[in-house]
Amino acid sequence: MKIAQFSRFGFILAAAGSAVGLGNIWKFPYITGEYGGGAFVLVYLLTVAFIGFSIMIAEMFIGYEGKKDCVTSFETLAPQKKSLWKLAGFQGVSGLLIMTFYSVVIGWILNYIVTSFTHLPASVEEAQNIFMGMLKSDPYTQIFYHSVTAIIVTFILTKGIKGGIERLNKFLMPLLMLILGGMFLYALTLDGFSKAWNFMFAFDFSKLNSEAFVTAVGHAFFTLSLGMGAIMTYAASMQKGTNLVKSALWVVFLDTTIALIAGLMLFTFLYQYGATPSKGPGLVFISLPSVFYEMGILGNIFSVLFFIALAFAGLTSAVSLVEPMVQYFIDRFTWSRLKASVLMGSFFYVIGLVALLSNIDGFSSALTFGSKNLFDWLDFVTAAILLPLGGLVMAIFVGFVVPKSQVSALLEPQLGKFFTPWYFSLRYITPIAMFIVILNLIGVF
Ligand code: PFF
Repeated sequence: MKIAQFSRFGFILAAAGSAVGLGNIWKFPYITGEYGGGAFVLVYLLTVAFIGFSIMIAEMFIGYEGKKDCVTSFETLAPQKKSLWKLAGFQGVSGLLIMTFYSVVIGWILNYIVTSFTHLPASVEEAQNIFMGMLKSDPYTQIFYHSVTAIIVTFILTKGIKGGIERLNKFLMPLLMLILGGMFLYALTLDGFSKAWNFMFAFDFSKLNSEAFVTAVGHAFFTLSLGMGAIMTYAASMQKGTNLVKSALWVVFLDTTIALIAGLMLFTFLYQYGATPSKGPGLVFISLPSVFYEMGILGNIFSVLFFIALAFAGLTSAVSLVEPMVQYFIDRFTWSRLKASVLMGSFFYVIGLVALLSNIDGFSSALTFGSKNLFDWLDFVTAAILLPLGGLVMAIFVGFVVPKSQVSALLEPQLGKFFTPWYFSLRYITPIAMFIVILNLIGVF
């Protein structure tokens, strides 16, 4: 079946919508806090610029040239027919697995939008009790909002590339930027801003250990939505003649700017009201609400707006996590979009339910395997292992398997004199870096 196409601007927005997500506003600030700020930010920025950007171009290339779902695109571009390279396309499955817990987290955010209207915690202890109470002993609220998320995402997917995904992004992305931009401008007027700036940009290398390094590299992948077929599947719907390099530049630029803005804004608020940045995943759910409380009524408004922005960012990424497998079943099994969307939606919904229960007291021991419960395993295996692995496979595929003439025919005119360094980085630097990350993660050293 022929795939519907994005408008040019629609493609950039949709790819940026995929990239800008919970990773930018929830995860980036808290891991920056955990790993001590500046030096971590520097490694992240270098990885985005030198590895993430190269792979983004490669991933767009596979989608744009292959023009179909991710499995078929690999198959089409591999020089021998019936090649095993089609297995590389199953990186689309990683997206579905990410979506299981991503949907649960969006659910927490929806819950916080509703409760912030009327109540903010008066102290960090109260905030901690509220969050942990929800996480560990309130399955009903979580199941309710996880269900709402699954219904919204599935509904948008049934509407397709143009009427669903492009429309959603054209509506939500500008609103997201407006809310974050407005709150950032307010943060600029506060004294805490200079402390936040120092925390993020004073490069203290004594805090940089190998774990921080690997986390920064893994996060660069996660935040740019690389290695699981999302960007590739969207690129299959690019209009002919779209400039891949310019599009990739825009996506990387928007994603990085929004992460930095979100980080500076959050740390400003935290410093302004005497909270500390090193709070882990609870940063936006625990520290931030208690800081909003200190701001009085403005805090309620900020809290609602902040969680709305976070939900918007999450939803535009969520659709891109599921779309690769939806497209796969449409292309390969001629399923209708409705059937593919509902079945994929049900899949992540059900596993998400089990993941959610794995945090609940009473269920967690049965759903804990080794050092982690199911929820944490899904996060770890996807973000830390599968995405870098997807990146490694794509770098090797475009760098060594697809004939150089085909790669240069499309990309040399767009990259100009940067083609040679890009190709070199794709063939050697990126695979080596990815390989080191994966070995380190699975504990080889
Ligand atoms: N980039 C998204 C974020 O930063 O939250 C998460 C994500 C979306 C990862 C889509 C991978 C993906 F394919």
